[in-house]
Amino acid sequence: MKVTEVKNICCIGAGYVGGPTMAIIALKCPEIKVTVVDVNQNRIDAWNDEDLTKLPIYEPGLADVVKECRGKNLFFSVDVDKAIDEAEMIFISVNTPTKSYGKGKGMGADLKYIELCARQIARVAKNDKIVVEKSTLPVRTAEAIKSILDHTGSGVKFQILSNPEFLAEGTAIEDLKNADRVLIGGDDTPEGKDAIEALTRIYAHWIPRERILQTNVWSSELSKLTANAFLAQRISSINSISALCESSGANVHEVAKAIGADTRIGGKFLKPSVGFGGSCFQKDILNLVYIAKSYNLHEVANYWEQVIIMNDYQKSRFAENIISTLYNTVSGKKIALLGWAFKKDTNDTRETASMFVADILMSDLADVYAYDPQVTEEQMINDLIYLNTRSEDENRKHLHKGVDPYETCKDAHAIAILTEWDEFVGYDWKRIYENMMKPAFIFDGRNILPHDELRKIGFLVKSLGVG
Ligand code: UDX
Ligand code: UDX
Repeated sequence: MKVTEVKNICCIGAGYVGGPTMAIIALKCPEIKVTVVDVNQNRIDAWNDEDLTKLPIYEPGLADVVKECRGKNLFFSVDVDKAIDEAEMIFISVNTPTKSYGKGKGMGADLKYIELCARQIARVAKNDKIVVEKSTLPVRTAEAIKSILDHTGSGVKFQILSNPEFLAEGTAIEDLKNADRVLIGGDDTPEGKDAIEALTRIYAHWIPRERILQTNVWSSELSKLTANAFLAQRISSINSISALCESSGANVHEVAKAIGADTRIGGKFLKPSVGFGGSCFQKDILNLVYIAKSYNLHEVANYWEQVIIMNDYQKSRFAENIISTLYNTVSGKKIALLGWAFKKDTNDTRETASMFVADILMSDLADVYAYDPQVTEEQMINDLIYLNTRSEDENRKHLHKGVDPYETCKDAHAIAILTEWDEFVGYDWKRIYENMMKPAFIFDGRNILPHDELRKIGFLVKSLGVG
């Protein structure tokens, strides 16, 4: 059998990537039944919750799409075998964290979930299928998946495609609806081309064909890692200049504007920050570094590793600046952090700069109060447990989630802005100032507040990257 027409799609992994991507495919392709499966029962229950505010991820516009499609052609389930059996096309969108043990520890991607998925597909499949890698994977993973699938002995034929996701959190729905490009990598054989065409037809429901790029599998896998590495590199580049600006008296925002006006450089991804976070940038660069090392390309590996070293420097530099400005100690002082998510409009905190800043301040014995409109106290504590600097009890003693922004900032010696949530700008800053310890410091790590107005109120404002 040749898979030419896709009527049933299964996606393994109902996370930040699998959930929104499948919701949009269901919305745009009403004739296709899309089933998203996950081993995590709680997550699937949340996706099925009548109350759409309880969806497991917060993403603007997502609830509307789920409301429209769920129960019609979009389903969420823990019955992985059934969904695999029914589908002509299976997306793998499980997590691929940095390996935390053994060979490649701290660098290479942990592919154990991918392998488990491949084995499960091999066991269950009774007819030919197209398997699509959606998770970001090291180059040549498709080969490993193929080798597992081709040795089932069942006679079932599989085509493996690479279709990396370029959506950014917080704008996932917009990014999916209006993708700059869709990348589909497959084998250069007649069967491979048929599979590429089958997936192309799905995206062509809403993406113009000229934006659907077809490549070989390895190019597609490497393009995803390279795109994330280039984006992260721009942030580390401008952050390195922010340090130079602070020392030299220049203003990094003026520099960013001046260089971004050059159309060859472009103005996007030049916002200085406390450091990039999120599940992808660091993981994907580490992956690139690991792959380069495994081919003995040490100069290439060192070049990209520097992007991460600069990012780590930026996070600690920001925290240490708070300590040195507050007369070289924050011991026993209340410090208010506004923002914990790794960027605005998401509840995702993976690798967020906020946890590293909080951790450094706590090591200097500060009393940290953090407020984020979408992140719970338990999540903050979990993040600190992941850093493993001190016991959970100690973390709970030194970190609290403020009930609201005003309570969070009351009696604080300093406020640090770590996420660029729009609501922070509209706060009653005069009221906040009146209730703070004096001198009242603000460290704006995102440069979103009106600094001149704050100075008139009486705040001492430190803007990242301004000398
Ligand atoms: C993940 C990868 O991290 C990223 O590299 C890739 O580009 C897309 O998939 P994300 O969707 O953000 O990103 O991950 P996450 O939110 O952790 O979702 C993965 C889901 O897979 C989880 O809900 C997990 O329970 C599920 N899973 C994992 C399975 O269903 N089966 C498994 O064997 C492993
Ligand atoms: C990124 C890629 O953009 C996306 O294409 C890929 O599919 C997944 O990884 P994401 O991590 O969701 O998406 O968010 P992104 O908007 O890229 O931001 C990543 C981090 O960089 C955030 O912490 C953000 O605050 C920071 N950032 C971004 C800056 O510090 N400065 C900028 O100019 C842009």
